[in-house]
Amino acid sequence: MNKKVILDCDPGHDDAISIIIAAAKTSNLKIEAITTVAGNVEVEKNTLNALKVCDIIGLDDVPVAQGAGKPLTNKMEIAEEIHGETGLDGPLLPEIPSKKPVDQHAVDLIIEKVMESDDDITLVPTGPLTNIALAMIREPAIVPKIKEIVLMGGGTFGNWTPAAEFNIYVDAEAAKVVFESGVPITMFGLDVTHQALATTQTIEDLSVIDNDVAKFVVDLLKFFMKTYKEFFDFDGGPIHDACTVAYLIDPSIFEMKHVHVDIETKGEYTYGMTCVDMLGVTGKETNVNVAYQLDQKKFWDLFYNALSSYTE
Ligand code: BDR
Ligand code: CA
Repeated sequence: MNKKVILDCDPGHDDAISIIIAAAKTSNLKIEAITTVAGNVEVEKNTLNALKVCDIIGLDDVPVAQGAGKPLTNKMEIAEEIHGETGLDGPLLPEIPSKKPVDQHAVDLIIEKVMESDDDITLVPTGPLTNIALAMIREPAIVPKIKEIVLMGGGTFGNWTPAAEFNIYVDAEAAKVVFESGVPITMFGLDVTHQALATTQTIEDLSVIDNDVAKFVVDLLKFFMKTYKEFFDFDGGPIHDACTVAYLIDPSIFEMKHVHVDIETKGEYTYGMTCVDMLGVTGKETNVNVAYQLDQKKFWDLFYNALSSYTE
């Protein structure tokens, strides 16, 4: 049986790859909607990018809805250094996508889909959690109906500040709403997403796959690897967001621990930190399934098989 998902994202190179893996023929996911949020770049650009990705992979029947244009209370913070001015710099993209966004706010589409569901929709946020928090605030009745939230964010160290990862830092107030909601949460933080490191070897291996989607991913990765070298001195680009869908397709790729996680919203140096209680020192009830280890072979096999499935 296919698992129903809503991909809430800010594409973004790794968000785009996440959509591509979720929509591949090898996937057991049914994408109910793609919703966009301000994050890597402004929400309008993220929406345009989501539509362009849909065009490239021929994903015609999935609604794309634009969501929040700024965090709940923070000023906007974007990651142009990593994703370029368009949010998806690198590959040659269609100037104007043929697909159009639906005439409904992302928050309303999320609420509608969840309320109409048999409690079987998993939300997959790979950007700041603004839309998800807003949906919970606008319609609290969705909370017990959400099957699970499988998100990319946080970790035991930061990439935007020493303590905070970008997605959580951008809207920590929204993250707090979501983490305290009581919905089962599975978290892919930097500890595990940095293990999903695409390298020059990855590019070499991918180059043998003869289809346009794989070529598009190669171009995405080349740009992403370049900025990760410049900004973090990494010898590769971590395809953070793709861990979420890889987990949903094959949970055995990851090792997980169910622990307590709090979101820091007050600290002078720690704002946006996910306080991950790996050793159970708080004694608080566990609320998050945290991924901490990735099986390299299984992960990259899934990745290559997904991209190969786009060959006619
Ligand atoms: C996260 O931030 C964004 O730049 C990526 O798309 C990913 O979701 C990594 O910190
Ligand atoms: Ca993202």
